Amino acid sequence: MRAWILNDTRGPSSYTLAEVETPVPGPGQVRVRLVASALNRLDLWMSMGLPAPKHFPHVPGGDGAGVVDAVGDGVDGWAPGVEVIVNPSLGYAPTTDHIPFGGKLGVLGEHSWGTLADYVVVPATNLAPKPDHLPWDRAAAYGLAYSTAYRMLRRARLRDGHLMLVVGVGGGVSSAGLMIGRLMGAEVYVTSRNPAKIERAVQLGAAGGFASGGEFSKELRQAAGRQADVVFENVGPATWSQSMRSLAPGGRLVTCGSTSGPKVEVSVPPLFFRHLEIIGSTMFDHEDFARVSEWVAGGELPVLVDSVYPFEDLPEALNRMKAGDHQGKLVIERSGT
Ligand SMILES: NC(=O)c1ccc[n+]([C@@H]2O[C@H](COP(=O)([O-])OP(=O)(O)OC[C@H]3O[C@@H](n4cnc5c(N)ncnc54)[C@H](OP(=O)(O)O)[C@@H]3O)[C@@H](O)[C@H]2O)c1
Repeated sequence: MRAWILNDTRGPSSYTLAEVETPVPGPGQVRVRLVASALNRLDLWMSMGLPAPKHFPHVPGGDGAGVVDAVGDGVDGWAPGVEVIVNPSLGYAPTTDHIPFGGKLGVLGEHSWGTLADYVVVPATNLAPKPDHLPWDRAAAYGLAYSTAYRMLRRARLRDGHLMLVVGVGGGVSSAGLMIGRLMGAEVYVTSRNPAKIERAVQLGAAGGFASGGEFSKELRQAAGRQADVVFENVGPATWSQSMRSLAPGGRLVTCGSTSGPKVEVSVPPLFFRHLEIIGSTMFDHEDFARVSEWVAGGELPVLVDSVYPFEDLPEALNRMKAGDHQGKLVIERSGT
């Protein structure tokens, strides 16, 4: 099969389109012929060795949708020809525990070969049926970012009527945070480095937005008349101190990432005087994915796709992500499907 492989970690230019052996599904596994795959920041990080693949060659890619091509022994309920969406959360038993999965993290495309290829093999339990009406690009785009965002908002205990601030709204996870926050009944403000992205976010339901590089905590208070119950973060040091200052007493900052660097400074007195919480969140369980899939299938949760590239043009899609020009998800699609 064709696959975008990494043989080293010199950065995005390490991606090479190559012929590799088509994987064979083992017991309990299904092989999917991919029609569309979506990018996540992880696909860039892995090309830089953050984290490095355990073995080379490696095929990254967490998100995808396609057609069941072969099933392993003991698989019930899936047959060749069925159109499916891949759940990228591996190694996670379904659970409602607050700290998920006993810390046993598994991400498709990080811990096993992923979706930047013609075929992917996943556990049969990691598939959802693709609704007929859902275009392939949307079907491929929502899995990782939207389910991560939903879990973040669950962990931050977002409720109807809360005030929420999404920082860096252009990103895949952050744009999902905006859409799911609105769906859960929050009033949502956003920040971005790009005014056009704020304008688009307002069209999508945001109440307003501010420059990520400014004093957005003050601007939020002026615009909304109060501070945020929940701040939705994954930018890190570039926005952290303003994000913390944006919290109302008792407010929660929830983060799943740190795109602008690994370290932040925390001023401790406001944390305890104002009863603030900093909440970490990573990936999601099968129930989170199922809930998000229901919303998407039911048309309640739109999936924001920035652009769709031919499979062969992966480097261009990665460059767009690296430049931070995108708003929503970047998708690659195979021709003739
Ligand atoms: N822990 C998990 O399970 C998990 C899951 C998914 C993602 N993540 C992490 O979450 C982060 C976002 O992932 P993603 O796929 O959504 O990436 P993405 O699409 O590239 O989004 C990143 C967004 O962050 C903002 N940003 C980046 N650098 C910035 C800076 N220096 N100053 C201000 N804003 C900046 C930008 O927003 P604007 O363009 O609007 O300014 C950008 O669009 C990544 O670090 C990723 O590794 C973690």
